[in-house]
Amino acid sequence: MKNLNFTGAKFGEQIQVSMPHDAATKWFGKMPPDLSLISRVRGSDWIYTYLKSFYLDESRPLGWNNKLFPNASMPNPLWQMQGLQHAELGEPDAIGERHVEGLTLVQAGTQTPAQFDQTARDITNFLEYAGEPAALKRQSMGVWVILFLVALTFLAYLLKQEYWKDVH
Ligand code: HEM
Repeated sequence: MKNLNFTGAKFGEQIQVSMPHDAATKWFGKMPPDLSLISRVRGSDWIYTYLKSFYLDESRPLGWNNKLFPNASMPNPLWQMQGLQHAELGEPDAIGERHVEGLTLVQAGTQTPAQFDQTARDITNFLEYAGEPAALKRQSMGVWVILFLVALTFLAYLLKQEYWKDVH
């Protein structure tokens, strides 16, 4: 209470999000989503790739775009670590749009590409964990549940043999 509670809140009071909905809509065009279940919605591979797919794009309001999630309203939160990426655009398609074909690092960040991959992996793993903290327990318990069911089936089989042995 002394170190974390600066507002005099009581135990059991709710924590309010520090980004008000109306202000966020004004700043980013929409409210940033609740990420607690995002790994279950999008999957870990998607999040990992998303965090690595931001590139500079002057035409976007915040100067960022994303190869995986085109025109996402989110600025790249990790640019200092990753460095700056530019998009390589392909030839115009039938309606004259040029799609992003690849990304190149044009300015190094504070981390090497390998270190940044690890950073993106750590964040993704955390979001995966947050999506279902009990997953590891559930998986390790699952083995025992299956073993129990196998043993029970075996006992039921023996019991059936016992009941039916005099029926001809
Ligand atoms: C490491 C930190 C962050 C992570 C892991 C993260 C992750 C994500 C993910 C996975 C989405 C996609 C959600 C979907 O499927 O619709 C998203 C969207 C979004 N994020 Fe972030 N985010 C981070 C930081 C931020 C920051 C710092 C801001 C604002 C300053 C922000 C603003 C937004 C907004 C506005 C969207 C909605 C994008 C759209 O639908 O166009 N995020 N974020």
